[in-house]
Amino acid sequence: MSTEAEPHNRLVKDEFERAAEGFAERTAHRFDALGVVEFSRLEQGEVVAEVGAGTGNFLALFEKGAGLLVALDLTPGMLQVGRRKHSVIEAVACDGAALPLRDRCIDLVCSAQALHHMKKPVPVVAEMRRVARDSGRVLIVDQLAPERYEQARALYELEVLRDPSHAASRPASAFRTIVLAAGLAILDERTVSQQTRFSEWMWPGEFPEERIETVRAFIAARGHETGKGFERDDDDWVFTRQRIMLLAGRA
Ligand SMILES: C[S@@+](CC[C@H](N)C(=O)[O-])C[C@H]1O[C@@H](n2cnc3c(N)ncnc32)[C@H](O)[C@@H]1O
Repeated sequence: MSTEAEPHNRLVKDEFERAAEGFAERTAHRFDALGVVEFSRLEQGEVVAEVGAGTGNFLALFEKGAGLLVALDLTPGMLQVGRRKHSVIEAVACDGAALPLRDRCIDLVCSAQALHHMKKPVPVVAEMRRVARDSGRVLIVDQLAPERYEQARALYELEVLRDPSHAASRPASAFRTIVLAAGLAILDERTVSQQTRFSEWMWPGEFPEERIETVRAFIAARGHETGKGFERDDDDWVFTRQRIMLLAGRA
């Protein structure tokens, strides 16, 4: 159903079914230093759900304080790996644009690193709002593109070569606009920068060799256009990634 409603979902499923095991390994600790639990204002025993939860690395951060963790994702293979790694998680395969949840039943509705795989994020964030309790929060974490259109455009070209299921490279202003368009008001915002090595970002355990070579060639020719500060380090590249954390409540 979800695939017919949004053709891009087919690309997402194909990519993440292929990559699930490698993805889980590469990204296991990528959120550990973000201070997400404190930022989310989690209270003991709250119900936490994540749209695009994948292999559960983000959702598992809430294990200590939450009463229930619900992983929602389009790709069954990602959830299967997530269940194996984090046995406390309840997992449901679904499209974020049609969540199989009642209105106002979740305290904290998250989405980490998933909106950039969605061409139409507003209906998904509106669904997150629908299932959030009146006193609930919506938390969005995602990677950022520069505000300058030419740089965001070059970064998008690079990202699609790396992962064909990449749908959009959005600057902070676009995330704020999405949240407001979904009927939410921003409660807090944080941006985190992180030095990243190309060899870790395009880890051979997850990505096919020919794709790695294609992206390497793009960076050598046009990496400077992306605003990500690519610098050579012997055989590798180092660059700066930025993530936005947006906490919102019903407007
Ligand atoms: C980059 S992974 C992020 C996984 C996890 N949140 C993390 O950060 O480790 C993106 C996930 O979003 C899921 N996804 C993409 N579009 C979706 C949609 N429309 N509805 C539900 N899940 C979606 C993909 O299947 C994939 O598991």
